[in-house]
Formats: sequence, structure tokens, C-alpha cells
Amino acid sequence: MNEVRVTGDGSTTLFSHTFGEHYHSVFGALTESKTVFIENGLQFLHKDPVTVFEIGLGTGLNAYLTCLNAQQNKRSVSYYAIEKFPLEIPVLSLLNYQVLLATEEADKRIFSAMHEAEWGKPVDITSSFSLFKIRADLCSFHPEFNYDVVYFDAFAPDRQPEMWTKEIFRDLYHMLNPGGILTTYCVKGDIKRNLKEAGFRIEKLPGPPGKREMLRASKDENQHPLVPR
Ligand SMILES: C[S@@+](CC[C@H](N)C(=O)[O-])C[C@H]1O[C@@H](n2cnc3c(N)ncnc32)[C@H](O)[C@@H]1O
Repeated sequence: MNEVRVTGDGSTTLFSHTFGEHYHSVFGALTESKTVFIENGLQFLHKDPVTVFEIGLGTGLNAYLTCLNAQQNKRSVSYYAIEKFPLEIPVLSLLNYQVLLATEEADKRIFSAMHEAEWGKPVDITSSFSLFKIRADLCSFHPEFNYDVVYFDAFAPDRQPEMWTKEIFRDLYHMLNPGGILTTYCVKGDIKRNLKEAGFRIEKLPGPPGKREMLRASKDENQHPLVPR
């Protein structure tokens, strides 16, 4: 069961009673998504077209921000997002992201179009943004596509330690393009260690309000990805 809550910047999030955790920072859902995934992830890489892989589609806030950003910057984005527990439309309709982010009716419709999109195939949401929703469990999923940016937005490691393992990071690293990056809000010592052991170079960056730091993990330019099967 999920409950809608208002966060510090006025944007909403969900509290999951199953996981005992919020979907975003209570200090500001929108601010967290913008800082961790858009500014320090998407915008850090100047690649066009760019492929993003999100861990945990959830409310779709990161996907929505990415789509609007792609439109504004005339950049082409292929977006893959994995989700084991898709949210129902009635709860999604209680979130205020469209009100806060969309100035035009067409931009409001993007949010619904993303959630109504079929799973398991690429769907053109706008002329610059295609969405491929993967309904699967990350713990038994092995990506068979390459990508440039990973938004690692799982529930915290004390709630879901099985999502933050060296083996999962290694799988993500293998299919990441050279120079690609992974960003996450989590800076815990054992998570940094798991990322490093998977091959990533990591750097700490200033975090969003309420979180002093965040992480960006990178793959060197000379490290080639595995080729999709
Ligand atoms: C912190 S929330 C994600 C927030 C999301 N990025 C957003 O902007 O709303 C973590 C997400 O991971 C999903 N999740 C939990 N376990 C999973 C698993 N084993 N495989 C894939 N997704 C999972 C949850 O259902 C939830 O949507």
C-alpha cells in the first residue's frame, strides 16, 4: 500500500508501507530527482543521442524530468526503466508533478502517456524521447542493451540490500558504454566498495537538501562494454 505525502519543496512523493520507505527524499522529491539524476547524471554527459537506464521507475518522476529536459535541449533520449511493482494509475494521478512541471497541456499529457505505455517494447512518448518499460526483478535481470547513464534509484540498502550488490553493479557496469556513468543518492561505505569492486571509479558530489553528499560512478573511456546478445 502507498500513501501520498508532500515533501519539503512542495512536490509529492509516496510512502510505501511494504518497504517502510519513501519513494523520494522527504526534504524535496523534485529537488532530489533534479540534483541526483538530471543535473549530475543526464546533463553531465553531453552525448546525443543518449541512452538512460533507470533502476526503479516508480512514480516516473525521473523519466518525466528526463523527457522534458530532452525536449527543452533538443536532445534525443532512449529511456529504459525496470520496475517489479508498477504503481496503479489512481495513485499516480494523486501526484503533483504535472502541475509543478508542465506549462503546456501537451507536457501534462506526457506523464500519463508514460504510465499508459505498453511494457516490454519501445514507445515514442515525444519526438525526442522513447520509453522502454521493463517489468522484471532487477535481482534476476541481465541487461541485453547498452546505455550511457544509469539512474540507480532503488529503495535504500538497509531496506533492500539485495538491490545494491557487487554482482548487480558488475552487470550494470558490463553493459555501460565507455565514459558512461551511474548516479545515486546513496553514499554508504559498503555501497561505494561494491561499486568500486564492480569496476567503477567513484566521486562524491554535493547532495540535494537534507543529504550532504551523493555519488557519481564512472566507467573509463577505454573500457568497452559487452555487446548485446
Ligand atoms: C526509491 S523507489 C523509485 C523511485 C522512482 N525512481 C521515482 O522517481 O518514483 C524504488 C523503486 O524500485 C522498485 N523496486 C523494488 N524492488 C525491485 C526489484 N527487485 N526490481 C525492480 N524494481 C524494484 C520499487 O517498486 C520502486 O518503484
